[in-house]
Amino acid sequence: MDTNRLSQTLASALNEQMTKEAHAAQIYLSYAAWADSQGFGGIANFLFRHAHEERNHMMKILEYILKRGAIVKVTAIPAPPKDPENVHHCFEKVFEHEVDNTKAVYKLVKMSLTEEDWATWNFMQWFVKEQTEEETLALNLLDKIKIAGGEKINSDALYTLDRDLEKTPDDARLAQDVTAENP
Ligand code: FEO
Repeated sequence: MDTNRLSQTLASALNEQMTKEAHAAQIYLSYAAWADSQGFGGIANFLFRHAHEERNHMMKILEYILKRGAIVKVTAIPAPPKDPENVHHCFEKVFEHEVDNTKAVYKLVKMSLTEEDWATWNFMQWFVKEQTEEETLALNLLDKIKIAGGEKINSDALYTLDRDLEKTPDDARLAQDVTAENP
């Protein structure tokens, strides 16, 4: 009896998405290290926390593939891109990466719809909601920076932004405990 409940196509697409989430974690990790090295401890805190969230997303997909009786393939994670040029550029790239990830999530939703795999379709809805929130968060931060001068943001505004992001809680939840409200 075949206990695998995922098609070959969906299993491979989910495995790819799992690696994509791991890649997102590496990107946030490298940006966080860059921010810290520039003296922005608050921005670094925000980005480190987000790296952890992305890793949770990776785990969430890994657990789902296993739960559906399919094979998980852990592969190499591509290297993150080079460091951003400044804080404005950093959040522009963050927004771009999130939009790119949203497109990949939508592709999976479409595939599950075509295959009438309602379990996967339902599972992916969590990611659709999560991506909307992440895009909004990145966009809001980008807007704040733009208002404060974009690339020419002054040191006072940077100080305030850094201090605000310092207050973001450090704790990140385990993959099995995450919800759309608390990713
Ligand atoms: Fe898990 Fe920000 O995508």
